[in-house]
Parts: sequence; structure tokens; C-alpha cells
Amino acid sequence: MSDSIAITSGKGGVGKTTFAVNLSIAQKKLTDKIFLLDTDMGMANSHVLLGINPKYSISDIISGEKKISEIIETSKNGISLISGGTASNNLLNLENIKRYSILNEIDNHLKGYKNVRLMVDIAAGAEDNALVFSMACDRILIVIVGEPTSFVDSYALIKALYSKSTFKNYCIAVNQVDNDSHGNELFKKFQSITSQFLDVNLHYVGCVKTSGKIRKSIVDRTPIMISEPKSDISQSFLKIAKKINETPSNEWGGLTFLSKVKKRA
Ligand SMILES: Nc1ncnc2c1ncn2[C@@H]1O[C@H](COP(=O)(O)OP(=O)(O)OP(=O)(O)O)[C@@H](O)[C@H]1O
Ligand SMILES: [Mg+2]
Repeated sequence: MSDSIAITSGKGGVGKTTFAVNLSIAQKKLTDKIFLLDTDMGMANSHVLLGINPKYSISDIISGEKKISEIIETSKNGISLISGGTASNNLLNLENIKRYSILNEIDNHLKGYKNVRLMVDIAAGAEDNALVFSMACDRILIVIVGEPTSFVDSYALIKALYSKSTFKNYCIAVNQVDNDSHGNELFKKFQSITSQFLDVNLHYVGCVKTSGKIRKSIVDRTPIMISEPKSDISQSFLKIAKKINETPSNEWGGLTFLSKVKKRA
């Protein structure tokens, strides 16, 4: 089984990278090989949370100086990171042709693996980079928090994704909740607003409580899934990972990650 999951949000700072890194480690328990692609070019920080200091990034692929296999760094917990680089790379507004060449390079590299899952940390919002990389994945996870701005921006993001791709299925996770029923309640509220205007299927995959341990894990550069795998927060990430895998994937005719792997299967 090979597939790809985009982790995105309407509003920034809601916990995408925290989810991308911890869900990658959770998925590692379910799949042989996990790649984490950081497409938040300009503000890439998956490596910070993962405790890796990558020498190279996607910018070295775009400039033609490196091959994909040369820029991948594997963390001590076995996650293979494709870093997005930093603000100085000025990659925020890639031309489409460059985006597609990145997609192709990664796709070609991944087809060498049999049981592989690609997790993609996407920049917040509905800019072209975010949309193209999200639509290249089979599943899209949207992280929301209980704030009106998060609801409005997530709605706008789904609307943009839907109008460009006609993807029907979106996984929704609620971050920074007080408890499970708070998460449920916020999802229902978001769903009721969205379903009034858009004919999409929102799949609730779970919630993560507000926790000082998450902040500490970022300072320590050790994901909570590693430092405290038995904690309720880590169990939430594991449950969310399993739930995401159970949701229907999206299909479309555009260029996708792992397309060749799927065709071979
Ligand atoms: N459940 C949580 N409890 C407490 N703090 C959290 C939680 N989730 C995320 N945070 C904190 O929120 C901040 C933003 O998290 P993160 O970097 O994962 O967000 P992001 O959506 O990737 O942001 P950006 O849009 O800038 O990429 C971090 O400092 C993190 O520690
Ligand atoms: Mg981030």
C-alpha cells in the first residue's frame, strides 16, 4: 500500500507541522517507509521539530545541483525528510513547471519503495504552492482550531481546493481542544457551516488537547510521539493516523505523488 497525505490549514500557526511530524512517526508504526516532504518553502520547519539539521533542501533540486536521493536525511526515528529550505531560498512563488518537476523527481524516487507513505507539510492558506502540492496527494488533512478565523480560512481553503480539483473528501482534525467532546463539538460546527455551501465530505479524524508537553517537545526538538509514546497526546496522534488511513482517498487526472506506484500495483 502506498499513498500520500497533505497536512494543511487555512490559517497559519494552528499546528500543521506538529501534526505532520507526529503523524509521520505514528504512520511509521503502520507502514514500512515514511517520507516527510516539507513544502512550506520559505518557512520550512519540520526539520526543527524532527531534530535534524539538513544540509540541502528542495532548492538544491530546483537549481539542479543535487539529486533527490542526495538531499534526503533520515531522523533517528526513521523518518526520511525532504526539507523545504529557508526564507532565503525565495521559493515561495515557484512557477508551475518547477512545481511539477519537484513532483516528478519525488515520485520517481518513491517508486523504488513498495510499502511507502508520503506525508506533506503544506504552507497555510490557498496560495498556488499550497494547492498544487495538496492536490498531488490522495488525502488532505485540514487542521482547524476553535477560532472564527480558522473556520473562515479553512472554509476558503476547501472551496479553493474543491474548485480546482473537485476533490470530495477532506479529513478534519481539531487541535488545541479541552477534551474529546470539545473537539467533536467544534467539528460539528465547522461541518454545519461548510455543508451549507459546499458539496464535500468532511471526515472527522480526531482531536488533540492543548498541552504544555507539545510546546516542550518543540523546544527539546523531540516529537512527543518519541519522548512520551504512551501519553494521551501520542495516543491521539496514533488514533488520528489510523482514522485518516480509513477515509476514502481522492482521485483525479492531475499529476500526483506515487502515481506510478499506484499504476504498477
Ligand atoms: N495541541 C497543542 N497544545 C499546545 N501547543 C500547541 C499545540 N499544537 C501546536 N502548538 C504550538 O503552536 C505553535 C504552532 O505550531 P506549528 O508550528 O505546528 O503550527 P503550523 O500550523 O505548522 O504553523 P505555520 O503556519 O507557521 O507553519 C507551536 O509553538 C506549537 O508548540
Ligand atoms: Mg508549519
